[in-house]
Amino acid sequence: MKEPIVRLEIRGPVGLITLNRPEALNALSTELMDALTDALRKCENDPAIGCMVLTGQGRAFAAGADIKEMANKTYAEAYSENFITRNWEEATRCRKPVIAAVNGLALGGGCELAMMCDFILCADTARFGQPEVKVGVMPGAGGTQRLSRSIGKSKAMEMCLTGRMMSADEAERCGLVSRVLPADELIDEAVRVATQIAELSRPMIMMTKEAVDRSFEVPLSEGVRFERRLAHTTFALEDHKEGAAAFAEKRKPNFHHR
Ligand code: HXC
Repeated sequence: MKEPIVRLEIRGPVGLITLNRPEALNALSTELMDALTDALRKCENDPAIGCMVLTGQGRAFAAGADIKEMANKTYAEAYSENFITRNWEEATRCRKPVIAAVNGLALGGGCELAMMCDFILCADTARFGQPEVKVGVMPGAGGTQRLSRSIGKSKAMEMCLTGRMMSADEAERCGLVSRVLPADELIDEAVRVATQIAELSRPMIMMTKEAVDRSFEVPLSEGVRFERRLAHTTFALEDHKEGAAAFAEKRKPNFHHR
């Protein structure tokens, strides 16, 4: 039987999603992006899942948009089929957290896909880059925007204008990734962290994610105001009372996600 182009494994409360087109370094073809969208939606709609991990099979997380598929695409086609906008940004639409576990090359659309996730853990063998200019295109899935916000103008500009690759260590130094792990520990650690998140109060986690995301969209005073309003609403949740009671009683909280 043919292997699925995107694999979805359920590991307890975690959906582990693996881009599975290693022969093409997980290049982001239409077929792959459709399958990724399906997998993310399945997890988002499954009440048993509280967090997702996205990784790649083989030596790449993803080496970008499928250059061969793009080669003959016309402007009219790209525009009318709403290329990229159609369904590449599903990770940003998930209300549950999505962790990128970057196992290897994350280039072009692959780096952009990782940046659409809530945070990035990476293997010590990972490498990041926006090499689009070298193949006659430019970043089109948020690279010029998310990379600048993540690592600052100078480094983002250099990466986008030269297409050079960045090592895992450099990515950690400049804040693109939250942590670098030995390659053979990456998935276990990503699933462990995702499980930890999934076992916390889901509405609390979703509100927290929403508040952090908001900080990229609005001025500080509005962001703090938004945070405060959400924080006040958490007092209405059963999980809020359970968290405080468990603390006082020196026991593990038993959240019911309500
Ligand atoms: C299609 C790709 C691919 C890609 C790799 N492959 N990247 N196919 N699209 N983006 C395929 C190769 O053609 C090859 O298939 C197989 O994967 C292995 O790749 P090799 O090149 O043989 O491996 P290697 O020599 O190790 O080089 C690795 C590499 C190189 C440096 C990552 O593959 C590379 O430069 N890839 C392109 C990276 C890139 O430019 N990404 C940005 C794309 S544009 P065969 O069949 O030959 O074995 C983008 C945004 C566009 O992401 C947005 C526009 C609006």
